[in-house]
Amino acid sequence: MWCLELLLTLLLIINDASCQWNVWVPRDISAMTNSCVVIPCTFMYPSGIRPYRGIHGIWYFGQPYPQLFPPVVFKTRTDIVHESYKGRTKLLGDLHQRNCTLLINNIGPEHSGRYYFRADLGGANMYTYPDFSELRVLDQPNIDVPEEIVSDESLELTCYAPDNCPDMTPEIQWMYTDYLPDPEFSTDYQEDSNTAVLSSTLTFTPRPMHNGQLLGCRVSYPNTTLVYERLISLDIKYAPRSVWVNVSSEVMEGRSVVLHCEVESNPHSRISWMFGDQELIWDEASNISLSLDDVMPAQEGLYTCVGNNGFGMMNTSLYLAVKYPPREPVVNNSMTVVEGTSLALHCSTQGSPAPTLTWLKDGELIGTITADELSVLQIIDITPQGDGQYRCLAENEHGRASSSFNITVEYAPVLLEESKCTVIREGVQCVCMATGNPEPTIEFYLPDLNITINESDRRYNFYTHIDGYTSTGMIKLREKGERADSGGPAVNVHCSIFNMYGRESVLLELQQEKKYMMAVIVGTIGGVAVIAFIIAAVRYVGQNNKKENGNPRQEVVLENPALSYSAVKKDKQNLRKKVLKTELLGSKFNSILEETTGEDGDYQPVGSMAGLEKQEMNYAVLEFIRARP
Ligand SMILES: *[C@@H]1O[C@H](CO)[C@@H](O)[C@H](O)[C@H]1NC(C)=O
Ligand SMILES: *[C@@H]1O[C@H](CO)[C@@H](O)[C@H](O)[C@H]1NC(C)=O
Ligand SMILES: *[C@@H]1O[C@H](CO)[C@@H](O)[C@H](O)[C@H]1NC(C)=O
Ligand SMILES: *[C@@H]1O[C@H](CO)[C@@H](O)[C@H](O)[C@H]1NC(C)=O
Ligand SMILES: *[C@@H]1O[C@H](CO)[C@@H](O)[C@H](O)[C@H]1NC(C)=O
Ligand SMILES: *[C@@H]1O[C@H](CO)[C@@H](O)[C@H](O)[C@H]1NC(C)=O
Ligand SMILES: *[C@@H]1O[C@H](CO)[C@@H](O)[C@H](O)[C@H]1NC(C)=O
Ligand SMILES: *[C@@H]1O[C@H](CO)[C@@H](O)[C@H](O)[C@H]1NC(C)=O
Ligand SMILES: *[C@@H]1O[C@H](CO)[C@@H](O)[C@H](O)[C@H]1NC(C)=O
Repeated sequence: MWCLELLLTLLLIINDASCQWNVWVPRDISAMTNSCVVIPCTFMYPSGIRPYRGIHGIWYFGQPYPQLFPPVVFKTRTDIVHESYKGRTKLLGDLHQRNCTLLINNIGPEHSGRYYFRADLGGANMYTYPDFSELRVLDQPNIDVPEEIVSDESLELTCYAPDNCPDMTPEIQWMYTDYLPDPEFSTDYQEDSNTAVLSSTLTFTPRPMHNGQLLGCRVSYPNTTLVYERLISLDIKYAPRSVWVNVSSEVMEGRSVVLHCEVESNPHSRISWMFGDQELIWDEASNISLSLDDVMPAQEGLYTCVGNNGFGMMNTSLYLAVKYPPREPVVNNSMTVVEGTSLALHCSTQGSPAPTLTWLKDGELIGTITADELSVLQIIDITPQGDGQYRCLAENEHGRASSSFNITVEYAPVLLEESKCTVIREGVQCVCMATGNPEPTIEFYLPDLNITINESDRRYNFYTHIDGYTSTGMIKLREKGERADSGGPAVNVHCSIFNMYGRESVLLELQQEKKYMMAVIVGTIGGVAVIAFIIAAVRYVGQNNKKENGNPRQEVVLENPALSYSAVKKDKQNLRKKVLKTELLGSKFNSILEETTGEDGDYQPVGSMAGLEKQEMNYAVLEFIRARP
């Protein structure tokens, strides 16, 4: 009938397959353990066959070949079935209606497998259909989980419960959904090839925090104790959401340091430590440690830990400071400059923390203190006192270092106070002291005699001494008992000092020793006639000796020949009014330059004239230069 209709439908064109041996069973069917399952089944047999003594059927488990004696699930002719199906199976369909629908109750995992139907139409018309229905017995519901769950993207999870047991209708509940943000649930019922599946879909948007959390699907059959649960742990992929690194830290030069980085992401990130553009280390892990040994100052800087897991990347940086004591400062080279020059002196160094730079001159603090890597000391118009050793000292909490250099200041000669002529026993000794750089050359000039005496001129007793930048020159003028060969007038002594930066010529003053004062009278006299006057005057002055001594400036004129030692005196008006007492070493002062070398080559200590008091003489001397007697 059925076949005929089908044939009609097919317009009788072909010898239709549906009228051959054919069975329709669901290819797959599933059921929960301990529940039941109905395998819907209809079959066909060739229309030519007339069933003989009714239609019988057999359900086999596992395989279709009777000769291999597969377990019998159900058999209509007898009630002999395989032990594991005893009392559990029932044919719901009417075979005469070609309905071979089978019920299996109280199924267990051992019942999973293929079920084959065999039609027995009597005689030789027995046929096992090769099409089978594969039963899966589940002890847990299935949950469809997407292969990849990505954070912040909407997620659908579907839980399935087979609904192939007519007496029991499943219910599905989701478990542990309380913590989910706005979960939505929807149920669906699907029938396919005569099997039914109930499903429940949970929709929500997972966050990184939900990674690893449990979700469950519970299938239960009301009015029974049957409950099935399936738990899943959410594996939620998310980009790095935190990159933890050490707080910025510091390390002493030469030590080691470990920089730690932890990246929270799923899956693990490729973590790398970068220094500038340079990747120092990487690993695919949750954390990574960068060890730096023997750290150098050049390794100071920003270290960045980058995490990248394909879902996103993130980075965090830290600053590593490398501490070290100051390096030896770099300063200017030693230099020679001319006075009046302005200088900028540089001192630079490195250190961490930035060193304090201090300038010292000859050990004394003079300079700016800067906490910097460069200090510039400005010297405006350097003076001779600026000559010396300059030191730049760099200090920080880890140490100190310094460098020095010398500045040599060149300057024009300067006459020193000590320059003077002194009356001594043998005559007069003139000392000229000057400083200068280069050390000054000293010459004496006797204008009255038109004589210049310098070092190279060995005819005269000329002593020089150089000590550092100070030059000393000395000559002695001594009585000779006879007139000067020139027979000239009184002699002034000039001292000339010079170097490449200047020249100065000064008239030397005659320095009075306390006990050998010489009176000086201001006026113009000459010749022998003067002497009595002088004596008288000196006597007078002698009484005032104690009041008036100590003034070093005066002029002396000696009688025969007349010699005058002129002091440096600009204020001659003032001088003229002074009367001083002086002791001379002899009655005559034939001032002659001693024409020897060698003897008396040392400095004559000025003023050590013991035992000469009795020869004290007083003179009144009138200033005259180039005066004739
Ligand atoms: C086969 O029998 C079952 C149980 O009686 C019934 O539910 C089903 O509808 C029948 N199938 C067909 C195709 O008639
Ligand atoms: C469960 O049993 C109660 C009464 O015992 C009945 O009212 C209810 O309909 C049953 N529910 C199901 C799903 O069979
Ligand atoms: C960085 O942190 C790790 C872990 O806390 C620690 O072991 C390490 O010493 C830290 N490194 C520095 C330089 O602070
Ligand atoms: C760091 O990673 C290692 C494996 O790479 C792991 O054993 C260790 O627990 C991690 N440490 C931390 C603090 O996460
Ligand atoms: C770190 O991240 C910032 C932006 O977040 C990016 O501009 C920078 O290039 C990153 N640095 C590295 C080394 O990846
Ligand atoms: C000192 O050195 C610095 C840097 O080399 C230079 O600029 C400066 O002119 C030098 N100063 C002198 C006085 O030479
Ligand atoms: C500076 O001069 C002193 C002596 O005055 C000397 O000992 C030192 O070596 C000199 N320094 C330099 C850098 O020339
Ligand atoms: C001084 O002597 C020089 C030669 O030594 C001579 O040329 C000069 O004219 C003289 N001056 C006087 C003023 O006599
Ligand atoms: C010394 O003086 C003479 C003549 O006055 C001169 O020729 C000579 O160069 C001078 N010597 C020095 C060292 O100045």
